[in-house]
Amino acid sequence: MELDQLDQRRIPTHVALVMDGNGRWAQRRGLPRTDGHAAGEAALLDTVWGALDAGIRWITVYAFSTENWKRPVEEVRFLMRFNERLLLTRRDELNEAGVKVQFIGRRDWRVPKRVLRHITETEEMTRKNRAMTLSLAFNYGGRAELVDAVNSLLAEGVAPGKVTEKMIRRHLYDPQMPDPELMVRTSGEYRISNYLLWQLAYSELVFTDVLWPDFRRGDLYDAIAEYQHRERRFGGIEAAER
Ligand code: IPE
Ligand code: IPE
Ligand code: MG
Repeated sequence: MELDQLDQRRIPTHVALVMDGNGRWAQRRGLPRTDGHAAGEAALLDTVWGALDAGIRWITVYAFSTENWKRPVEEVRFLMRFNERLLLTRRDELNEAGVKVQFIGRRDWRVPKRVLRHITETEEMTRKNRAMTLSLAFNYGGRAELVDAVNSLLAEGVAPGKVTEKMIRRHLYDPQMPDPELMVRTSGEYRISNYLLWQLAYSELVFTDVLWPDFRRGDLYDAIAEYQHRERRFGGIEAAER
C-alpha cells in the first residue's frame, strides 16, 4: 500500500506496534535468534520514517517486556546492548527529524545502569521535539504499569473510593500519551502479551503474518488501510442506526 492510497483525513494519531517474530525470522534462515533482533532495526527505522511521512504523531513500539527476562541470559544481554546501541547510533538522525524519543517501562535494578543513563540522556536530548513522539516500551508490562500507577496514587494518600479513571491515567508512564487508535502485531500471533493494557481498551487491532524484520512502511500503510475500514463504536451504535 502507498501513502497516497490512504484516506488522509483518517490517519491515526497514535499507532502502537508489537515487533514480534525476530527469532523465527532468524531460525528460518539458520541464523541465531539474535540476528533476527539485529535485522529488526531496519524495520523499525523504515516504519518510523514512514509514520513521519504519513503525519502520525505518536508511535509506540514494544521492545522488551517485563516477561522477556525469562529468556536465556545471552539473549537478554544482547537485547540490552542492542537497544542501547540503537539509541546511541540513531538518536541524532531522529533528533534532526524532530522525533521525541522516550521510554515507557520500569526503570528498575534489572536494567543495566549504563543503559538507563543513555535512556535519560536521549530523552533529555529530544525532549523539545514536536514532529512525533516515539515511545520505546522497554522493560514494559501493562500490569506493571497499572501496579505502579496504583502505588503512586496510594503514596499520594488518595482516599478509598476516590480513585477515578482520570487519576489512573495521570499516573501512567506517560500521562500525555493519547490512546492508540490502532495496534499492529506482526508474526501471526493473536495476543496482546501484556502490552498497553489500559490504553488499548478501544483500539482497533490488526494482525499480520509478516515477521518483524520484514516489516516496512508499506506494511504500516496496509494496517492503516484496514483500520480505515473499521467502524469504531466505543460501546455506542452506528451513526446510521440512530
Ligand atoms: C520479538 O521477537 C522481539 C522481542 C520479544 C524482544 P521474538 O524474539 O519474540 O521472536 P519470536 O516470536 O521468537 O519469533
Ligand atoms: C511481546 O512479544 C514482547 C515484545 C515484542 C517485546 P513476545 O514474543 O515476548 O510475546 P509472547 O511470549 O509470544 O506472548
Ligand atoms: Mg515473540
